[in-house]
Amino acid sequence: MSAPNKSFDPKSPASLNAEAVTGMVDSALVAIASATTLEELKEVRLAHVGDRSPLSLANREIGSLPPAAKAEAGQRVGTARGTIKQALDDRTAALEGERDSRVLLEETVDVTMLSRRRRLGSRHPLTTLMERMSDVFIAMGYEIAEGPEIEAEWLNFDSLNIAPDHPARTMQDTFYVGSPESGVVLRTQTSPIQMRAMLTRELPIYVVAPGRVFRTDELDATHTPVFHQIEGLAVDKGITMGHLKGTLDHLASAMFGVGIVTRLRPSYFPFTEPSAEVDLQCFVCRGESIGDPERPCRTCGSEGWIEWGGCGMVNPRVLRAAGVDPDVYSGFAFGMGVERTLMFRHGVTDMHDMVEGDVRFTEAFGLEV
Ligand code: DAH
Repeated sequence: MSAPNKSFDPKSPASLNAEAVTGMVDSALVAIASATTLEELKEVRLAHVGDRSPLSLANREIGSLPPAAKAEAGQRVGTARGTIKQALDDRTAALEGERDSRVLLEETVDVTMLSRRRRLGSRHPLTTLMERMSDVFIAMGYEIAEGPEIEAEWLNFDSLNIAPDHPARTMQDTFYVGSPESGVVLRTQTSPIQMRAMLTRELPIYVVAPGRVFRTDELDATHTPVFHQIEGLAVDKGITMGHLKGTLDHLASAMFGVGIVTRLRPSYFPFTEPSAEVDLQCFVCRGESIGDPERPCRTCGSEGWIEWGGCGMVNPRVLRAAGVDPDVYSGFAFGMGVERTLMFRHGVTDMHDMVEGDVRFTEAFGLEV
């Protein structure tokens, strides 16, 4: 019997010899060095130290070696694995560092850079003016009333004591919806809202109704087929013309300056009796330009007063048509043109500017809300 032959190696796999392992390390190091992204490096890690890598496969062979060869091969594979892992870690750290500085650079936000400006629109001065006028009444306890722009002819005319042969009803002034026999019109005034308010609300009534109205006028510097009015109505026990005058004076001073008053000139409207034109004291010259050719006033044409609207005591016939007893209740009403108000309040001289929708006109009034 021969002694065991230590150098006899029944199956020393080629994959475990020093050269082969060094080759594995070398190719791993080359692959690691040439990986340019963390993703690529992940692949390299899998290929060179993963379960199916040549080094791992070689490692599995160690078990079949004779004891003396085991230690040496184990050490060789361990060292190789250590070298590769170290290289992987170094490369990982380097690539992570590169990625971080790239991200920092790419995602830099220049907080000093001017942002791109979004152009803000402005509200139309007619809208803001109507709101301002309404607010004067809200502050006195009035409510806002509304009505449709497409209105029953009866509410727009008949109920307001405007007879069928009244000139305002002819085709020249009124837009009929469908044929003139349809009984439906585009409201020519906000006054039908008076009737709607009386028909639907409990007494007493204190309402203002700003709204759009329509007449068959050609658009020119002082006319437009679509314009705006603000209507007021107060119905209560004991309402007098003194209340009407005081209310209009309050509106005048709220809109045009302390001390500016109104003047009532006798007039005629079918739905009020008595009726009056409302004139506004000129808020520019306060009447001082009258008869003084040295100091002409462009706002009032040196008249001292500017025509503003109509008003009066609600005609008892109208109260009756709405089911209100004129022996118990009385009321006042008024209506003003909003375009007119804007024209003299802001020196707008051409109606075209108000309807054409050019933002440069609107912007001139600022970002009023
Ligand atoms: N609705 C009239 C118009 O458009 C204006 C008006 C006059 C309204 C007198 C009123 C009023 O409420 O009492 O010409």
